[in-house]
Amino acid sequence: MKTAPSPDWTIPQDWDAYTSAEHAVWDTLFARQSALLPGRVVPAFMAGLEALDLSRGGIPRFEELSEHLGARTGWRVVAVPGLVPDEVFFRHLANRSFVAGRFIRRPDQLEYLQEPDVFHDVFGHVPLLADPVFADYLQAYGEGGLRALTLGSLDHLARLYWHTVEFGLIRAGAGLQIYGAGIVSSHGESIYALDDLAPHRLAFDLRRVMRTRYRIDAYQQTYFVIDSFEDLLRQTLETDFGPLYAELGGLPDIDPDTVLSTDRTVTGG
Ligand SMILES: [Fe+2]
Repeated sequence: MKTAPSPDWTIPQDWDAYTSAEHAVWDTLFARQSALLPGRVVPAFMAGLEALDLSRGGIPRFEELSEHLGARTGWRVVAVPGLVPDEVFFRHLANRSFVAGRFIRRPDQLEYLQEPDVFHDVFGHVPLLADPVFADYLQAYGEGGLRALTLGSLDHLARLYWHTVEFGLIRAGAGLQIYGAGIVSSHGESIYALDDLAPHRLAFDLRRVMRTRYRIDAYQQTYFVIDSFEDLLRQTLETDFGPLYAELGGLPDIDPDTVLSTDRTVTGG
């Protein structure tokens, strides 16, 4: 951006500027994922898609989305030009505001895109913001982020986001389902995360998760499995992160493909 950003970095979505080709990219991605996900994704995600009327075609208008969301959980969706500074990101989350990219990938980028676009941000993240417990978790995460900034522990906290909000798995009866936005918005990883024999699937452990590095350029080598959103929220709210950061600061990081003797493996990898 050439002009200075507004203090909260938000910009108009400028919905009218989308071309029909851009809406068609959304529709292609949407049709593919909504055919694949039932049964694979946590039921709250499908309920959110329905409740937010996301299936009617075309890139959603953030204002309408925010009205639907606001009535349910008090969240809203705002457009930003791209990645925003950590402090801005956390402050939005702490105020129940989800920042989303407004651009959409090109037709030749359906499989993979490094920067989050409107399909990843809105299709991937927003449906679960209609779930009251997940909505509380993301706000709590934002508040935790503001505190982590003052404690200099952002790397550890960022891993919690990565291994839950972006790439988390959840128990579903005898099996597993996906809920992380990075998986949900990726056709290939929606299959790989549940069906492939290669990745490790380990029971969620807050300390373990916060020590585990991750790759941004490939499917995950390790997924962490939560029992429920309630349990994830409870652990986040009940943990005193100040002493935890001090403890973690003295411990080595764990590589993305490592399994420790203390890990509880949910299915083999
Ligand atoms: Fe994301």
